[in-house]
Amino acid sequence: MQNNNIILMGFMGVGKGSIARHLAKETGRISLDTDDLIESMENTKIKKIFEQEGEAYFRQAEKNISLWLENSVKDSIISVGGGFYQVGNLQKIAHVIYLESSFDAILDRINSFDNAKKKLKKRPLLQDMSKAKDLIAQRHPKYLASSDTVIQTAGKTAAEISDEIIKLLKLNISPFPA
Ligand code: S3P
Repeated sequence: MQNNNIILMGFMGVGKGSIARHLAKETGRISLDTDDLIESMENTKIKKIFEQEGEAYFRQAEKNISLWLENSVKDSIISVGGGFYQVGNLQKIAHVIYLESSFDAILDRINSFDNAKKKLKKRPLLQDMSKAKDLIAQRHPKYLASSDTVIQTAGKTAAEISDEIIKLLKLNISPFPA
């Protein structure tokens, strides 16, 4: 496992962040989220970055973060934005898990939250459902090609998926520090 890190990758709203937090708690590892890192570096929300600087600027920020992760991060759980698979060095950062789900199951998951509207609103590429559906279809083969392990998420809780990952990768359960 590269740097003993695990990347959780997959489409927007699949539950990467929730699963990462469960996994971190269970294994005593630190969990990092690339969108959170970019927002703190830019001191702006992702939505604003897309509006004010454009998507290309955001993708460059993802590349910058990917180099930092490769060079400076170990023993961690890293949840990444849905387009992060494009950075080019995923395999040098971590063991990559693709959290796979259908578009409908993802929408059901988002809609199950009280703050569903907020979850949709903060994601620029989830504004037009027909475009988002095309995007997941287009990305699915790329997610498959850039991952080491694939896990189906539909109908499972974050805790169940986290346990599945622990068993699959034979992760140690230990209090911090790992
Ligand atoms: C994006 C996914 C978002 C965020 C940005 C772009 C994408 O992250 O990085 O809005 O291209 O799929 P989540 O997958 O965490 O929603």
